[in-house]
Amino acid sequence: MDKGVIQAIKEKLDIADIVRRYVELKPVSGRWMGACPFHQETKPSMSVNSEEGFFYCFGCQASGDVFDFYSRINGLDFSETLEQLAAEAGIELKPGKVDPDAAKRSSERRIITEMHEISASYFSRMLEMREGRSAREYLLKRGINSEIIEKFRLGYSSDDWQGLQNFLVSKKYTIDHAVKGGLLSKNDRGRTYDRFRGRLIFPIQSLSGKIIAFGGRIIIEGEPKYLNSSDTPIYKKGDHLYGLSQARTTIARTKKALLTEGYMDVLSLHQFGYTNACGVLGTALTPDQVKRLSGFCSRVDLVFDGDSAGMKAALRSAEMILAQGVACGVVVLPDGEDVDSILQTKGAEGFQKFLDEARDGLDFCIATLKAGHAPKEIMAWAEKFISHLSTDALKAFYLPKLASGLGVAEIGLRSVLSGSGASASIEKKSERQSGLRIVPVGSHENDDKYFLRFAVRHPEFVQELFERGVSQVLSSHWGKKLWSKIAAHSGEDILPYLDNSEKSFWTGCRMQPSLEGDELSNEWRHLCRVIAKKRFSVGRKQLMDALRQAQAQGDRERVEAYLKALNDSVWRDDEQH
Ligand code: CTP
Ligand code: MN
Repeated sequence: MDKGVIQAIKEKLDIADIVRRYVELKPVSGRWMGACPFHQETKPSMSVNSEEGFFYCFGCQASGDVFDFYSRINGLDFSETLEQLAAEAGIELKPGKVDPDAAKRSSERRIITEMHEISASYFSRMLEMREGRSAREYLLKRGINSEIIEKFRLGYSSDDWQGLQNFLVSKKYTIDHAVKGGLLSKNDRGRTYDRFRGRLIFPIQSLSGKIIAFGGRIIIEGEPKYLNSSDTPIYKKGDHLYGLSQARTTIARTKKALLTEGYMDVLSLHQFGYTNACGVLGTALTPDQVKRLSGFCSRVDLVFDGDSAGMKAALRSAEMILAQGVACGVVVLPDGEDVDSILQTKGAEGFQKFLDEARDGLDFCIATLKAGHAPKEIMAWAEKFISHLSTDALKAFYLPKLASGLGVAEIGLRSVLSGSGASASIEKKSERQSGLRIVPVGSHENDDKYFLRFAVRHPEFVQELFERGVSQVLSSHWGKKLWSKIAAHSGEDILPYLDNSEKSFWTGCRMQPSLEGDELSNEWRHLCRVIAKKRFSVGRKQLMDALRQAQAQGDRERVEAYLKALNDSVWRDDEQH
């Protein structure tokens, strides 16, 4: 990673300008404050520091620099973020001296992405041509209008085994890349052919609007009804949501998303004015998808079929959404109906009735469980649910609701959970799910934080802290690691080097005003005393351990040497205090 480019981009872009696109910011005593988009919040809990280039939320401790903000709110990975922010800053990214494998992979990704774009145009031209007549008629029959066809770039793949293949070859793409990109399939004899044939084509876009995969529906009878792209270098099943790129502006504005199961459902919802709708694409909802959504909405309404598969999917999805601290509503449609059929027969008005009656997500989960499960299973679910919550704050929020919903005493539930080790697993689980590490609050780490906080708030003292041996008094792995970064990067922008938990600690400290005058010199003196004292007791403990070992080994000489050293150290300690 080229830190120079990152720095150059940060200098060009004001983090407040970027944040302001998603969140209204108001000036409060020299800083910008706004409602945090990363957890459910209406009060201004997030502070943005333009001068130092970071943001920090007092509510959920989300924090970081402009790269962190941009990638999280847009659901992009680092290289995508770098690319887009560089473009905004007008800075050219040089290929640089990356390793040749990475360069090859990235050029492959670029080519495959390009091929998807050009294939989408091919499919959409097919839909307009003579071959596409049956597909056009099918869309008409399903009530999809031309505005939606255009907005979602729908297309048609003719019943030709070599159509797209010939087209891509004519555009100078290699068969190899087309196979890798999932556009062509290869049989046992090595013969390649179009993956999508005789299908209505639904391009799947990334959040930033690039076409990265396709779904295809058969229009005459046949199997399978839907065919999707397999995993490729640019697409991983379960990472994306269908229609999110088209829905994102409405979602960001209203803070609400509609999540449904099918391609056609998404299309109909948009057509009938629900432009905040997206779909899960034939797999169970994944934490990655929820993360992508929760970046810019505070409520997700699930609209699933009323059959037992739909109910099961709704339960699992609701659980996952609640676990990320996003509000959740559940609309279960009458058996045999889906969103699309309701919209097409009863219109927006008919559908809105169901939406207005959406059930609270947690109530839905509890009711579904109670209806068909043994007490043992219900409590196991509760345990798992709590252990998946991404922060302790959420745990505090849901425990009483869960207890009353299950009809058990809160204190009883609490003790069940604490006995099961659920709290211990919270840290790891949430780390995976939210990308946010919760700092374990062991006493050692808290002790370390005293020194580190001072170092972060007063960088001018880092050198002297180093000389006074602060590293020897830090006791936690976390503290030592952060200190080594602070020491190594003093005087430069440290944020790109920090992990999430370090970032929230660092930005949290920088939010506090630095000390001045007498207050500062008193604090510094106190700190130096604490360091000296700690170093002394650490040294003494080492001597005692060594002494005990020497005694156990019957090593007279060493025993005497250590005793003498210990004596001297007592004398030194007297002198110091
Ligand atoms: N799906 C899939 N592969 C299949 C079947 C379904 O990927 N073989 C996904 C599609 O995203 C589909 C969704 O699951 O849209 C829901 O499937 P289903 O309810 O069977 O289809 P509908 O969306 O109702 O399809 P349609 O209205 O077009 O019949
Ligand atoms: Mn349907």
